[in-house]
Amino acid sequence: ANGLIKLDPTRVIGTIDDKVYSGFLEHMGRCIYGGIVDFDCTVPGLTNEKGYRLDVGKALKDLDMPVVRYPGGNFVSSYHWLDAVGPKENRPRRPELAWLGEESNQFGTDEFMEWCEYMGTEPYLCLNMGTGTLDEALAWVEYCNSDKNTYYANLRRKNGHEKPYNVKYWSLGNEVWGPWQVGQMTAEDYSKKAFQWAKALKLLDPDIKLVACGKDGLDTWDFTVTQALITQIDYYSIHLYTSHEEYYKNVTCVAAAERAIQITSRLLDLATITQKAYDKHVKICFDEWNVWDPMRAPGHLGAEEKYTLSDAIAVASWGNLFVRQAPTVGMANIAQCVNVIAPVMTTPTDMLLQTIYYPFLLFTKYMRGQSLNLHVEGPTYKGETGAFFGDYMKWIKTTEPAIMLLDVSAAKKDGIVSIAVVNRSLEEDVVTAFELEGEYKEDVVTYSVYNDDIAAVNTYEKKDVVGIEEKTVKLSELKSFTVKKHSFVMLRITQA
Ligand code: AHR
Repeated sequence: ANGLIKLDPTRVIGTIDDKVYSGFLEHMGRCIYGGIVDFDCTVPGLTNEKGYRLDVGKALKDLDMPVVRYPGGNFVSSYHWLDAVGPKENRPRRPELAWLGEESNQFGTDEFMEWCEYMGTEPYLCLNMGTGTLDEALAWVEYCNSDKNTYYANLRRKNGHEKPYNVKYWSLGNEVWGPWQVGQMTAEDYSKKAFQWAKALKLLDPDIKLVACGKDGLDTWDFTVTQALITQIDYYSIHLYTSHEEYYKNVTCVAAAERAIQITSRLLDLATITQKAYDKHVKICFDEWNVWDPMRAPGHLGAEEKYTLSDAIAVASWGNLFVRQAPTVGMANIAQCVNVIAPVMTTPTDMLLQTIYYPFLLFTKYMRGQSLNLHVEGPTYKGETGAFFGDYMKWIKTTEPAIMLLDVSAAKKDGIVSIAVVNRSLEEDVVTAFELEGEYKEDVVTYSVYNDDIAAVNTYEKKDVVGIEEKTVKLSELKSFTVKKHSFVMLRITQA
């Protein structure tokens, strides 16, 4: 098949917020304990004196995530942050209602803040709107951010942390709409409660940025909540996981997420106008996204996904859509970082980078700066597609004429144009002509993620079945450049 990609680097769509490469850590399965920390580790050099897994720290540092969301997820809806501060021997073990486990509270707010500092990332805390109270939420903000002579600020000092952490991002609950959520609410009830919480939280600390709990962008929940909260919030959160056992459905259903962003941004525009919130520029915070099917995933809670090459292709398309939708997305958090629906896996003695780690790494490394407009031609997919939140895709099927098999985005930063090309065809290489406006240097660096087998996985025995292959080609070769079937290629072209 033939393809065409036309690019003019002066045609800027918008600035890519670095925060779209953020992460998420939840007290779920082996994400915290056994993932980012191992307090029982016996392998010399694998952890530091604080119990941080150093190999995991390095793998995540390479992903350069600007923000990490914590502590949930569903977990947060019955979490009392006060249980997890102060002397560790005094911290209560609690039943945990989201994943029906026990929480030791040995890793809490101060440990997370210290870990963020070590990682060079900013914390983003999610508030408990299930069993939690507004008093408790205010106390948490005071504990983290206040430099005054008040009770919770002093408690932080007493716990050995003189300086405030200045946590900027706070979200008003997690998936409050879900029947699985402790404290599920209707959109109306949530809106009323969140409005009052937002007012009080901003009185305490006007500098914080508040994230409202949205659904997937398509529900009446999203209409009601954007209308009710637009004047109080800075970000509006949506969640979506995509996945399908059939290859084409798996790699194309990511389109649902792009439509979710487009629809949500229009709902936000509408709310801005109807509520006369003209000074507000509320951005989307896509604070849970990934390929995930809890029914297929092995391990505890259906959370220990084993990612294939097909999933890596899907994750590359997730990256593309965040770049293309740059003007409206202010943050996105891959869910999650370690062991749970994650690019990085561990055993007590070893670590593994899954297939999806590699496309995500290429995006966070190179797809920053300005997002560029593109013209793309090529083969299309006209068959069935699917998604984790199923009906959504049925609707997209009836509104989209076809889904492009060449899925592309482009970014420009520091005189380098990066083009991310996913060929989702299962059968055909696409011989692609790049038509680039402007002058460029001769050498083009390319990074490919490919395997002959779409089911290929990395294992502890064979860790590098899927990785990144780097190659330098000549600019003239881009007139007829082969993008292999079911592969992801990133091209880095330097402006002359
Ligand atoms: O990331 C796993 C879970 O998925 C989160 O706890 C929840 O918010 C979502 O349903």
